[in-house]
Amino acid sequence: MPPTPMPQDLFDLTGQAAVVTGASGGLGRHFAITLARAGAKVAVAARRSDRLTAVTREIEAFDGRAFPVRLDVTDPKSVREAMAAAETELGAITILVNNAGIAITKPLLEQGEADWDSVVDTNLKGAWLVAQEVAHHMVRLGHGGSIINVASILGWRAVAQVPAYGASKAGLIQLTRSMAVELARHGIRVNALAPGYIDTDLNHDFLESEVGQALRRRVPQRRFGRPEDLDGPLLLLASDASRHMTGSVITVDGGHSVGL
Ligand code: NAI
Repeated sequence: MPPTPMPQDLFDLTGQAAVVTGASGGLGRHFAITLARAGAKVAVAARRSDRLTAVTREIEAFDGRAFPVRLDVTDPKSVREAMAAAETELGAITILVNNAGIAITKPLLEQGEADWDSVVDTNLKGAWLVAQEVAHHMVRLGHGGSIINVASILGWRAVAQVPAYGASKAGLIQLTRSMAVELARHGIRVNALAPGYIDTDLNHDFLESEVGQALRRRVPQRRFGRPEDLDGPLLLLASDASRHMTGSVITVDGGHSVGL
C-alpha cells in the first residue's frame, strides 16, 4: 500500500493527465481550469477550436499545462482520434470529466425524434463513447484512473419540457454505476456529479427571469450554484481523496432536490 498523503496533499493532481469534454465554455471551461490549478495537465476537448485555444491560453497564463483537442462526442471516430491525440500529447490519461451536454427545452408534445436523438446521443451515448474509449486506454496501460460523469438533479427529479434531458441524465447515473461495478477490477473509479442549477452564461438570463427567481425561492439555500461551488466535489472525485469511492453520485444543489 502506498503511504497515505498528508491532508493538504489529498487533492493534489500533479502528474495526472485529464480530459474535459465540452471544455469550450460554461462548466467545462471551469472544470479544466480547476484541474489545471490542482496540477493536472488538461486536454480541453470540444467542437469549437477558437474557444478551446482561448481556454488553453487562460490555463497557460497561470503556468498550467493545457492542450486543445477537437472532439464531437457523438462521433466515434472523433472520440478515438481525440483521445489518442490527448494521450500522445499529455501521456496516459488518468482523469476524464464527461461534461459535454445539451438540453432542448420545449413541450413534450412538440418534441420530435431529432430533438430526442440529439440530446440522448450527446448526453448519454456520447458520454458512454468517451468513457469506454478512455477506459480502453486505462486498461491497456494498466494505471487505473477516475471517470467523472456530469449528470444533473434532473436525472431523478422531473421538470416539464426537458424529457430527453432528464432521461439522458437518469441513464448517465445508471451508466456510472454499471461502469463502476465492471471497471473496479482495473483500478478505475467511476462517479457522477449531479449539480442543481448553476449560473453560467448559458442559463443566466433564465435564472434572472421571474420564473427563475421563483425557482430560486424553492432552493433551501435560496441561491443558485456558482461554477466554483463544484470545485471541491470535482477535486474530491478526481483525486486520490476519493480512492474508496466508486459508483457514487454527489449532489451539489443547495438542497434543491431534497426540499418539497
Ligand atoms: P454549456 O452549453 O455552456 O456547455 C456545454 C459544453 O458541451 C459546450 O462546451 C458545448 O460546446 C459542449 N458540447 C455540446 N455538444 C457537444 C458535442 N457533440 N461534442 C463535444 N462537445 C459538445 O452548458 P453547461 O451549463 O456548462 O453544462 C455542462 C454540463 O453540465 C452539461 O452536461 C449539463 O447538462 C451539466 N449541467 C449543467 C447545469 C447548469 O445549471 N449549468 C446543471 C446540471 C448539469
